[in-house]
Amino acid sequence: MARNIDHVGPYGPIPGQRGIVIVAGARPNFMKVAPIIEALAHLGVQPILVHTGQHYDFEMSEAFFQDLRLPAPNFHLGIGSGSHAEQTARIMLAFEPILQSLKPSMVIVVGDVNSTLACALVARKLNIRVAHVEAGLRSRDRSMPEEVNRLLTDAISDYLFTPSRDADQNLASEGVPPDKIHLVGNVMIDTLRKYEAAARSRCAWRKYGLSPGRYAVLTLHRPSNVDDPGTFSALIHVFSVVQESVPIIFPVHPRTRAKLMQDPIASALRSAPNLLICDPLGYIDFLGLIADARLVLTDSGGLQEETTALNVPCLTLRDNTERPVTVEAGTNRVVGTDPDTILRAVLEVVEGPQRSAAIPPFWDGRAASRIADIVVREYRALTQRCA
Ligand code: UD1
Repeated sequence: MARNIDHVGPYGPIPGQRGIVIVAGARPNFMKVAPIIEALAHLGVQPILVHTGQHYDFEMSEAFFQDLRLPAPNFHLGIGSGSHAEQTARIMLAFEPILQSLKPSMVIVVGDVNSTLACALVARKLNIRVAHVEAGLRSRDRSMPEEVNRLLTDAISDYLFTPSRDADQNLASEGVPPDKIHLVGNVMIDTLRKYEAAARSRCAWRKYGLSPGRYAVLTLHRPSNVDDPGTFSALIHVFSVVQESVPIIFPVHPRTRAKLMQDPIASALRSAPNLLICDPLGYIDFLGLIADARLVLTDSGGLQEETTALNVPCLTLRDNTERPVTVEAGTNRVVGTDPDTILRAVLEVVEGPQRSAAIPPFWDGRAASRIADIVVREYRALTQRCA
């Protein structure tokens, strides 16, 4: 993929209009921007895609562009890794001149990663309208970087596109005027429904010698779980016990990768033959893998939602969730990181009956088209006002 492109590419602004910029930076952003770009194009507006480069490994970025048939970004900022301050500041410094030269009418940001906040902040300070997709989610845990990103992005956004009613309530209780809040549903589920059949037909589990409905998928990348050697090693020990009852496939995030090499984790893994480690997977293979899993163990946010849409039990290895609707739906349980609690919960799922989920309203595969309707209406009004 091109890096540091300094010109407007094939999807530049429509003549006479100042354009809409949409930002993606990290893996969980790509499946959110894909349906929005498509829905906007359907209404005749081709947004300008800016990739901050927060994620840059092939498996974390390019593989998703290929799977989701995303257009090449018009701008790639090539930011890469760093401390939160470094990463956020570098994104802001690189994004500001792009907005100064393009002067778009609106910037759309998605999710809660550092790229989301950095780009929203730059746009706000240049008095450009900001639309936040996935607004209003709250874990109420400000030690999580994503919670800080969510709170600050929502505070400076003009259009708050929410996935569920609890998000509307959170925003209302923070004093956000109701006319800024738009309950549109969940764009991740748009992408999931689009690729679900293709994903299932790949039978991704076969490659790992697994049988459908008889394995667990594990993902782990939260700093609170993997950065502290004691916590991480205790978790790996739990999974080495779990794999005796149900095999586990563990696609390893780059943040987590290095930590697996160190003892005592490396030796715990050697004595756990059914804990299968692999590189991060592309979107479609991973979707296929979770769709046929008996359960998912994760500290991710998006996976809690995807398992709800797929009616797959999910045990969330955190003390809280910003996505309580997934718990209300009956698929997700927030189990924390206590070994005994995790083991008990796994056994309850493996030995218990299959339940059916109550999928939240508006998680119907049409969230992006609802967003595009509002964005295009507002965009036309804004460009007429500026003409
Ligand atoms: C980021 C998001 C998190 C999201 C996650 C999904 C923030 C604050 N966090 O966390 O909300 O759930 O993405 O993956 O924005 N690395 C690579 N290659 C890459 C990307 C990262 O090797 O392509 C390594 C680097 O060592 C880097 C570390 O992973 O320092 C962490 O990456 P970073 O983007 O800072 O945060 P994530 O943990 O990926």
